Amino acid sequence: MCGIVGYVGKRNSLPIILDGLKRMEYRGYDSAGVSIINSENKIINFKKAGKVDEMSKSIDKDIFSGNIGIGHTRWATHGIPNDCNAHPHFDMDDNIVIVHNGIIENYKQIKSKLADEGYTFKTETDTEVLANLINYYFKQTGEFEKAVRLALTDVNGTYGIACLCASEPDKMIIARNGSPLLIGIGNDETIVSSDASAVINHTRNVVYLEEGDMAIIKENGFKMKTIYDERIFREAKEIDFLIESIEKGGYDHFMLKEICEQPDSIQNTYRGRINFDTGITKLGGLESVFDKMLNAKRFIITACGTAWHAGLVGEYMLEQYCKVPVEVEYASEFRYRRPIINPDDVVILISQSGETADTLAALREAKKYGATTIGVVNVIGSTIAREVDAGTYVHAGPEIGVASTKAFTSQVMSLALITLMLAAEKKTISKDSLKEIATELKSLPGKIQNMIDIRNEYKKVAELFKDSRNFLYLGRGINFPVALEGALKLKEISYIHAEGYPAAEMKHGPIALIDENMPVVFIAPKDRIYEKVISNIEEVRARSGKIIVIATDDDKDIGSYADHILRVPRSSALFAPILNVIPLQFLSYYMAVARGCNVDQPRNLAKSVTVE
Ligand code: M6R
Repeated sequence: MCGIVGYVGKRNSLPIILDGLKRMEYRGYDSAGVSIINSENKIINFKKAGKVDEMSKSIDKDIFSGNIGIGHTRWATHGIPNDCNAHPHFDMDDNIVIVHNGIIENYKQIKSKLADEGYTFKTETDTEVLANLINYYFKQTGEFEKAVRLALTDVNGTYGIACLCASEPDKMIIARNGSPLLIGIGNDETIVSSDASAVINHTRNVVYLEEGDMAIIKENGFKMKTIYDERIFREAKEIDFLIESIEKGGYDHFMLKEICEQPDSIQNTYRGRINFDTGITKLGGLESVFDKMLNAKRFIITACGTAWHAGLVGEYMLEQYCKVPVEVEYASEFRYRRPIINPDDVVILISQSGETADTLAALREAKKYGATTIGVVNVIGSTIAREVDAGTYVHAGPEIGVASTKAFTSQVMSLALITLMLAAEKKTISKDSLKEIATELKSLPGKIQNMIDIRNEYKKVAELFKDSRNFLYLGRGINFPVALEGALKLKEISYIHAEGYPAAEMKHGPIALIDENMPVVFIAPKDRIYEKVISNIEEVRARSGKIIVIATDDDKDIGSYADHILRVPRSSALFAPILNVIPLQFLSYYMAVARGCNVDQPRNLAKSVTVE
């Protein structure tokens, strides 16, 4: 959510900052800006509402030159997205300039105290208040570093910041609390960012800031401290992905690329973790807590959005195969609901980014009560991955499209692996079933590829319904969360209202919505509740709803019930959600394209939601 980039070195900082902002635009894209210290040690600033490209086109590149600079791409929290509220923000004296991700929760109190001291403000943002608070302490101490430190000890909330000071033009100061930041160590240069994608073009060597860390960056390198002035040293790590994985590679959109990557991303999730002869699964990252998992009285899965849907699939898997009770909670509700958490509970946190503020807060809540915490995370080294007791990376690779696709299927795969590992040890699954599942797993990437190859079939159906105003998605059992996920994908990128429901619940209310204008997507694989779903289809048919069915290849009867059929390969219940969601991803993608929507940057959304 929002992207920060900064440069200190010998090169002109502007092109590096603009390139970094462009690469991070999926984090927020309602306005963008840069501030650079020029050769006369003056801070020059340009910011504009709209996409990075608009800002980049309007900026006067002859004037904007200097070896130290910061930039920001914004997802608005405080103040509407306009030129004025865009970052960077100056203090009242135009001496200090700052870019900020996160929310300063006590900014109103600070603002009113500063106003009493004669401070004035031009914007509605919390960030401008922080800039002025730094100014306040700078006036008292005459030292930029001390001023930043003192200001940060006054604020409540979350921040990742980078700031410059015209009075001390040789340095940039950055700090982190609850919002990610990293330092890229280049040759005679340092590139700072909230996201590795903005740095990887220049260096693979990075230091991740931890909560309460600060860094003072100069041309000859950087030193790190806590905001309480203790010297610290953090080891450099290597970025674990290639630059190609964050580029579109010939696809029209990242979302399409990521949907089509799923044969590989799924394999990357299970590679080296399952013995295909025996079906025995081993997840090295969970070894240290495996006994706790075996003895757990209850699992709680908590996550947001798409990751929460994966969690619901996990509930079905763990309960059915491991015979252990599971609860699935919205992470955003978890903390405030005052949940009853016991030390013998295992809490699974699922997150693509590993930075979602609500999920992170749920993790900290669970830890407070002594529960064992497990992460199912995609981004390596992210905050959730670092703070859990143990975890398993889903290894889906960087996901840039705001609508999550390959991360979902890899999250579901990770939960399937956890299920198999536990069920084998608990002996709640037979050896033969384990072997069968392992054999089936081998065929999964090929089955996904088959669906990708026939995507034009899905596209034709999508285009027929592009002008629909509403959609219903219905599924039962393990496919109910798939219905939720299909509806979420459609809402997110095509702005068509969609609801996901358990198919049999429809008759308790939503059935009132059905008429000849209501398309209803049924997920109806030939499984043990197929006949029940067919009855639900009949109920919609009787009311003239338009019926689109996700049906398995071997289902010869479905033609008499459906207006449109989206075919999927048959599989066991464990892997069915992975296959069944793929036509729904294509359906939403092609509908959004047909409606002329910006698929990779849907309005009002950002890839990772690092504010509450
Ligand atoms: O990074 P996370 O997995 O924690 O993100 C959770 C949700 O914000 C995310 O899944 C969101 O719902 C996506 N935009 C869905 O496509």
